[in-house]
Amino acid sequence: MGIQIAPSILSADFANLERDILTVGGADWLHVDVMDGHFVPNMTFGLPVVERICEVSPLPVDAHLMIDDPDRWAPRYAEAGAASVTFHLEAAHDPRAIAADLRSLGARASCAIKPGTPVEDVLPLIDRLDMVLVMTVEPGFGGQSFMADMMPKLRTLRAAAEAAGRDLRLQTDGGIARATVGTVVEAGCDVVVAGSAIYGAEDRAAEIAMLRELGER
Ligand code: DX5
Ligand code: ZN
Repeated sequence: MGIQIAPSILSADFANLERDILTVGGADWLHVDVMDGHFVPNMTFGLPVVERICEVSPLPVDAHLMIDDPDRWAPRYAEAGAASVTFHLEAAHDPRAIAADLRSLGARASCAIKPGTPVEDVLPLIDRLDMVLVMTVEPGFGGQSFMADMMPKLRTLRAAAEAAGRDLRLQTDGGIARATVGTVVEAGCDVVVAGSAIYGAEDRAAEIAMLRELGER
């Protein structure tokens, strides 16, 4: 089965966002990292910018919310046009309600866990979710080293989804490049985020094709 590739615009040129969005059109999703300077020690942009990104992007937008109070904000990103919205379990007050809100707005409901969060915390929610994001770096910055010790979380999630007969997407984010894409796919990941690997490449379209090929299962 083919994997899906989601280039992260965190590594794009923020003064030329539209230009850089159009250079990754051969991917499957556009991964958009929203950081609030509270949930993570870094800031990017918020709703008005994401709304414009959704308007100019030829790819469906995969919003990754590294923010406090996703109960309040996550539905707003679905309303802004994101086709998929990922909130962090660690910041959520009522994750089931957030997932239900996202689905009722027609968005894919997705929940992320940081490296220190046990996979058992998200397992009871998988029947309400369309995707789980297993972070393979501490969220906040691009260009960090891949944490291979997160792979058992993917295996546990894949087994739990299969046992429940659920068509659950599993995403990984952080440190994914040619050398690591095979490892995450082998562990059960089917949606791969890559920021620096794609935006740092000489030929972004060729890098997307290369990651897709190396992630072939
Ligand atoms: C980090 C972000 C990632 C980031 C990944 O907190 O969530 O999406 O862009 O960057 P790379 O692929 O460079 O590790
Ligand atoms: Zn991300």
